[in-house]
Amino acid sequence: MNENQLMGYAREALGNSYSPYSNFPVGAAILCKDGNIITGVNVENASFGGTNCAERSAIFTAVGKGYKKGDFLAIAVAGKTKGFLPPCCICRQVMVEFFEPDAPVYLTNGTQEIQVHSLKDLVPLSFDKLDI
Ligand code: THU
Repeated sequence: MNENQLMGYAREALGNSYSPYSNFPVGAAILCKDGNIITGVNVENASFGGTNCAERSAIFTAVGKGYKKGDFLAIAVAGKTKGFLPPCCICRQVMVEFFEPDAPVYLTNGTQEIQVHSLKDLVPLSFDKLDI
C-alpha cells in the first residue's frame, strides 16, 4: 500500500461525506499495521457543534472495531480544496492519542499532489500525558 493508494481510499470516501452546511466534503483513510484500511468522512449537524471531522470519524471507527493505540501506520486526508487540506487541531490531538509521533500524515491538493508531514511536525510539544 503506497501513499497514492491510501489517498485513493480517502478520495473515494469523501463521496460519503455528510456536509450539507459547509459543502466541504472531507475523506480520511487510515492504514493499519495489519494492512486493513479504515475510512471516515465528516458528518455535519444542524447544531454545527455536533459535527465530526473525517479524520476523527476514521479513528473512532477503527477503535470501535478493536484497533488500539499503536495499531496505525499512516493517515491520508482528502478534500476538494485547491491547496493542501491540513487536519484541524482537534483531529491532530486525536491522532496524537493513537498514532506514533513519526506516523506520516498525507495531504493532497486540487492537482492530486501528495504532501507528507510527520505527526510530530504537525503537533510539536503535544499534550499526551496527564503527568502530575
Ligand atoms: N473538516 C474535516 O473533516 N477535517 C478537517 O481536518 C478540517 C475540517 C470538516 C469539518 C466540517 O464538516 C467541514 O470540514 C468544514 O469545516
